[in-house]
Amino acid sequence: MPDIGFVNGRFLPLEETTVSVEDRGFQFGDGIYEVIRTYHGQPFQLDAHLARLERSARAIELPLSWNLQQWATYVCDGIKQSGYPESKVYLQLTRGAAPRDHVFPASAKPTAVMTVREMKPMDSALHASGVAAVTMDDWRWGRCDIKSVNLLPNVMARQKAKQAGAFEALFIRNGQVTEGAVSNVMIVKSGRMITAPEGEQILAGVTRTILLELARKEGLPVEERFVTRDELLRADEIFLTGTTVEVLSVIRVDGKAIGPGGSGKPGPVTLKLQAAFQRLVG
Ligand code: PDD
Repeated sequence: MPDIGFVNGRFLPLEETTVSVEDRGFQFGDGIYEVIRTYHGQPFQLDAHLARLERSARAIELPLSWNLQQWATYVCDGIKQSGYPESKVYLQLTRGAAPRDHVFPASAKPTAVMTVREMKPMDSALHASGVAAVTMDDWRWGRCDIKSVNLLPNVMARQKAKQAGAFEALFIRNGQVTEGAVSNVMIVKSGRMITAPEGEQILAGVTRTILLELARKEGLPVEERFVTRDELLRADEIFLTGTTVEVLSVIRVDGKAIGPGGSGKPGPVTLKLQAAFQRLVG
């Protein structure tokens, strides 16, 4: 089965795709992206991902190349062409190739790129056991709601987490937990689920929205507010949400065991929501 590449409306084998060295995505990080996965060959929450792509594009004054209907058609075509039972679709849109100058080029055409690769799900043992995380200073820019390709702080944070033997880095800004380097963060405290509010400090995760709905359906009170690092460490349960991590329990933060009675095991609310999510995606 082939990995699929796509540049500006043209599908081709991934290894044959090229973009200019003068592309502004490459030189300035002047672009945005989305990551979408399939379940049973169907893109999950495609409309929500494309709506966010449109919001990100608008926020950086970047034309979308095509309307969302056409984007959806391209995504579905790519998934079909790849033939993978489960795939991960990466979309990136940049301000195009032009001689290097910070101001927007007068005439460059945006570069739209897509890749479709096999989705290798996370090790199911990790989902069962939960993962360790470490807290880190959130030195990202002020518009984390834009899914920008400028991911240097996320890259550095995730690498430091790995070096510390942890799976995810949890960002702290002004004493408050914002989100993970590749995920949103939820805590459970005294039967309530708490997560950072939408706004400029976090990415409005597609999976986050689903989990808020699932929690409400399960009758779990939900609060959208920031928690401090101290509240995080004293949480009954912590879990991450995201396209790649789905619903993933965090059982250790900065070396401290989290979970019922400090057990370092996934808690009952997380397990319930994890099961509800799995039912939803089939
Ligand atoms: N990242 N927060 C950040 C900083 C993220 O990068 C992501 C996802 C999320 C979760 O969003 P969603 O539920 O829509 O996937 C939250 C993608 C998967 C990535 O960069 O690979």
